[in-house]
Amino acid sequence: MINRFAVILAAGQGTRMKSKLYKVLHPVCGKPMVEHVVDHISQLEVNHVVTVVGYGAEMVKERLQGKSDFVIQEEQLGTAHAVMQAKDALGDKRGTTLIICGDTPLITVETMSALMKQHEETGAKATVLTAHAEDPTGYGRIIRNADGDVAKIVEHKDANEEELKVKEINTGTYCFDNEALFEALDNVSNENAQGEYYLPDVIEILKAKNELVTAYSTEDFEETLGVNDRIALAEAERIMRARINKKHMKNGVTIIDPANTYIDTDVVIGSDTVILPGTVIQGASKIGEGCEIGPNSEINNCEISHNTFVQQSVLSDSSIGSNVKIGPFAHIRPDSDIQDEVKIGNFVEIKKTYFGKGSKASHLSYIGDAEVGRNVNIGCGSITVNYDGRNKFLTKIDDDVFVGCNSNLVAPVTVNEGAYIAAGSTITDDVPESALAIARARQVNKENYVEKLKSNK
Ligand code: UD1
Ligand code: CA
Repeated sequence: MINRFAVILAAGQGTRMKSKLYKVLHPVCGKPMVEHVVDHISQLEVNHVVTVVGYGAEMVKERLQGKSDFVIQEEQLGTAHAVMQAKDALGDKRGTTLIICGDTPLITVETMSALMKQHEETGAKATVLTAHAEDPTGYGRIIRNADGDVAKIVEHKDANEEELKVKEINTGTYCFDNEALFEALDNVSNENAQGEYYLPDVIEILKAKNELVTAYSTEDFEETLGVNDRIALAEAERIMRARINKKHMKNGVTIIDPANTYIDTDVVIGSDTVILPGTVIQGASKIGEGCEIGPNSEINNCEISHNTFVQQSVLSDSSIGSNVKIGPFAHIRPDSDIQDEVKIGNFVEIKKTYFGKGSKASHLSYIGDAEVGRNVNIGCGSITVNYDGRNKFLTKIDDDVFVGCNSNLVAPVTVNEGAYIAAGSTITDDVPESALAIARARQVNKENYVEKLKSNK
């Protein structure tokens, strides 16, 4: 088996993004573009992955920790110079080296794998991944000789009129014979329009030595998109989103309007779940089978079990059981744990709360920092008073408690099993098991008072 290495170029600042965030850390469908590249490579049989970092090195390293080794390119003198920085790590090794830019997140594992296969089967010293672009502006052009073989790559800024007409572009992805690569890199000069050391110049250098150089052309230009500015970023997002949605549909998920459904890369969704329009599912969210999510819902880092409904609601960093009904217009805030068969109805906000099986808060409530047992009914408008301006306190509501409408539970407070709270109560003391707590002023009716008021005038 041939040794395989990969070098990811991710040291550039990305001036054209006009951003404080380093280019390769800009997310596409919730994941930094360079991480897409690294994750794709992890699916190939590659022995050693090296990422060249420079701008924002610490942040890039933190993000890719454990997935790649790193070398630093102190000054960004060009893509060839970037690869040179991996010389200490890889220079003396034998094998195939895949080089790919950190700003091409759409190149698929299949394409990378086909490129490597062709490279190894032909025994070429270099194989370039090329594509045909409708509009090749900005890309390096593949210049072929009379026999149709790749002769060299010319950067857009260095190209003459004839070369500018070429629509076959360099995708920035290559396979090299590792030893031939590092030998050729020593001969790359920076005499060009940008005064940079260009990696594509290695092709011409190898050709001059009569080495075999081939190209592998992908049919799909879209996947080779290099993200240099925000317009390309939106384009990459659109393409990636369509891919993700297709993957879920193939797995048995119904997506009513894929153009209006935004699912992050690593989200998992079970079959027979229906996603309605305007829904955003982010982060490491995991949704079970037979659920109905949306319309217009936002789910971030939540685990949701089976047959649960979420309608017009926002949920984050929480766990939701099966056969739960949420919404419309509910807000589940972080660290909530909603058990099976719960109902969280309209205009209910839940924060850092355990909500036991079969319990309900159907309308207009705020439940924060609470532990709610099983089969509890929280009446309309009831709230936990969890904050005194400085500290947060716990409210405990045991199994089978009935909280009447518009009650305030002033924490810290415990309502014990089976207790009833009369509507409109402000509960400041613990309520014993099976007791009825009434904590409100008694009603006084003053007979004929209104007539008296009127005659006083
Ligand atoms: C590059 C190729 C071009 C190709 C295009 C495909 C060169 C000279 N040109 O152009 O032929 O068509 O990609 O998308 O290689 N980087 C470093 N250090 C540097 C310079 C760049 O690490 O000193 C990294 C960048 O972070 C980026 C990648 O290399 O991820 C490509 O650099 P970029 O400036 O985007 O090159 P392009 O102009 O797109
Ligand atoms: Ca680029």
